Amino acid sequence: MSTRPITVCGAAGGIGQPLSLLLKQSDLITDLALFDIVNAPGVAADLSHINTRSTVTGYGKDEMDAALKDAHTVVIPAGVPRKPGMTRDDLFKINAGIIRDLAEGVARNCPDAFVLVISNPVNSTVPIVSEVLKKYNVYNPKKVFGVSTLDVVRASRFISEVDSNINPKSTRVTVVGGHSGVTIVPLLSQIPGQKFTEEQVKALTHRIQYGGDEVVKAKAGAGSATLSMAYAGARFTNVVLEASVNGKTGIVESTYVNLLADAESTKAFHAKTGLDYFAQDVEFGPEGVAKILPLPAVSDHEQGLLDEAYTELKANIEKGTKFITEPE
Ligand code: NAI
Repeated sequence: MSTRPITVCGAAGGIGQPLSLLLKQSDLITDLALFDIVNAPGVAADLSHINTRSTVTGYGKDEMDAALKDAHTVVIPAGVPRKPGMTRDDLFKINAGIIRDLAEGVARNCPDAFVLVISNPVNSTVPIVSEVLKKYNVYNPKKVFGVSTLDVVRASRFISEVDSNINPKSTRVTVVGGHSGVTIVPLLSQIPGQKFTEEQVKALTHRIQYGGDEVVKAKAGAGSATLSMAYAGARFTNVVLEASVNGKTGIVESTYVNLLADAESTKAFHAKTGLDYFAQDVEFGPEGVAKILPLPAVSDHEQGLLDEAYTELKANIEKGTKFITEPE
């Protein structure tokens, strides 16, 4: 059980509220700190009546430092979501500054915390967090993650709709690359015993890449995925806590990380692609990334997808990095 706070930034939002509700149910958390520029004390008061062990404290607009003080883990779903017709990259202008300010708060108040970035565009917001932490000399690439778990969750669900023998709860799909459109590369060839036709693979891949758009369209201007994202965010937070607080070994989950987190095993991939960040299956340990697992042998179709992903990812990473290293 962590005796240090688990802090949610953006806790009163569409993702933040159900995510905080799910985290309130974790026995690994004793102190849940909820920060938002609006309404965090209200959400905290509400959740604090649930009969689990953790205390819940809300922090308002001017209380970021107090919310982050000595945090063990910081989960960040703060910022604006997409509206119909928008790409995740369209959110950069607003969310980049929000993420920079929160990362500075982390550097000042909890420099050794695990930082889990949900805010989009994840491909760029994770490099922003990294560069801010570097500036403060507190960067540990093993502890900063882009939460791409929703892509994994969607992949498991969508394949089970095509093959009813698949149990979506127990079938994990490795999803690599990044977290937006063509950078999302599900490795369906790696699912043991799968017999999807070429057509099915193409349709499933497209649905996993653009699953977020289904929700944005259905919500018709009221935002993007919040409930499924809260589920995915809680699942990923639990992975980090199980490994770091509970000492559980061998947990593997796909997540978007700096390849420096395991420079030795990613050296060849980095040399080949020139990428600094990539979503890949990661094995978790007490300090976060224990190992970045090697990319498996992929199908020709998947290789084509990867080649397309590399180009876009590179641009996304550069955009995030430069936001801090070369501000306008
Ligand atoms: P929302 O607008 O419902 O909630 C965002 C919350 O952040 C609001 O309560 C707002 O007051 C708060 N906020 C804004 N600026 C802040 C600051 N400086 N400090 C603290 N809190 C601040 O948005 P929603 O739907 O919860 O989405 C949040 C983010 O998550 C968006 O960027 C969205 O694109 C992203 N997202 C990521 C997914 C992923 O798979 N990684 C999936 C779905 C959404």
